[in-house]
Amino acid sequence: MIFKKFFKKAKFEKRASELDSNIEEIPSHIAIIMDGNGRWAKRRAMPRIAGHQEGMKTVRRIARVADELGVKVLTLYAFSTENWKRPKTEVEYLMSLPEKFLDEFLPEIMERNICVQMIGEKEGLPEHTKRAINKAMEKTKNNTGLILNFALNYGSRAEIVKAMKSMMKEVQEGKLTIEEITEETVNQYLMTSHLPEPDLLIRTSGEVRLSNFMLWQLAYTEFWFTETLWPDFDEEDFMEAIQAYQKRNRRYGGLTD
Ligand code: IPE
Ligand code: IPE
Ligand code: MG
Repeated sequence: MIFKKFFKKAKFEKRASELDSNIEEIPSHIAIIMDGNGRWAKRRAMPRIAGHQEGMKTVRRIARVADELGVKVLTLYAFSTENWKRPKTEVEYLMSLPEKFLDEFLPEIMERNICVQMIGEKEGLPEHTKRAINKAMEKTKNNTGLILNFALNYGSRAEIVKAMKSMMKEVQEGKLTIEEITEETVNQYLMTSHLPEPDLLIRTSGEVRLSNFMLWQLAYTEFWFTETLWPDFDEEDFMEAIQAYQKRNRRYGGLTD
C-alpha cells in the first residue's frame, strides 16, 4: 500500500515536471463534463448515489490541482437541464451534494482564495440547494483566485433561448437595434458573459458528446476525452489532459506553423 502510494507520487511528480508550467501555457479556462459516476458504482455493485458521493471527492481533488497549477476558471458540469429525467431519489441526492460539498470544502475554499460561481437556472433548484450555493457565492465573492464555476441545472439550448429573449426584449423596448447585434452582443447575454471561453474541455467515461454543454462557448475549444470514470479521475489524468492541450496547435481558422 505504502509502495503503491510512493509509486503514485513519483508518477505525479514526473508528470508535473513534464508539464509546461509557464503560466501562459496553462489553459486559463478548463471545462469538465464529469461523467461516469453511475457506471463506477455499478461496477462495484453499489447504488448509483455511491458513485456521486465518490465523484464529489474528485471535484475537490481537481479543484485543488487546478488552483495549484494557476488555472483561472474551472467550470464543472454537475447537473444538466435533462438530468431531471432521472429517478427522484437520485435527483434528490444530486441536489444535496452542493450543500455537502460546500459544508466540508468552504474553509479550504476561503484559504485558497477560490471564488465560487454558478451558471444554470438557479430558480429551478430546491430551496436548500439554492441557499448553499448563494451562501458560498456571497462568502467568496471577493476572492481573487481560481473561479470554481458550477454548471447546475444548466443547458446550453435553454441558455441560448433565454439570451435571445432578453435581446429581443431590448430591441422591442428600443434599447438595442438589430444592426447593433454582433457576436460580442450575443456573448453578453449568455450566463458566461464575464468569463473567457474555455480553452480545454475534458469529458470522462468514454462518452464523446457534448450533452447540451456550452454549445456557443466551445466553438474553438480543444477537446480531450478519456475512458476513465469521473470518480477515478485524478491529478495525473488532469495533467495529462493539459499536456495534450499544450501540444495542440490552435489555428482559429487561420494558418500557423
Ligand atoms: C455524471 O455521472 C454525473 C451526472 C450526470 C449528474 P452519471 O450519473 O451520468 O454516470 P453514468 O454516465 O450513468 O455512468
Ligand atoms: C452530462 O452527463 C451531464 C453532466 C455531466 C452533468 P449525462 O450523463 O447526463 O449525459 P448523457 O445523458 O450521457 O448524454
Ligand atoms: Mg452519464
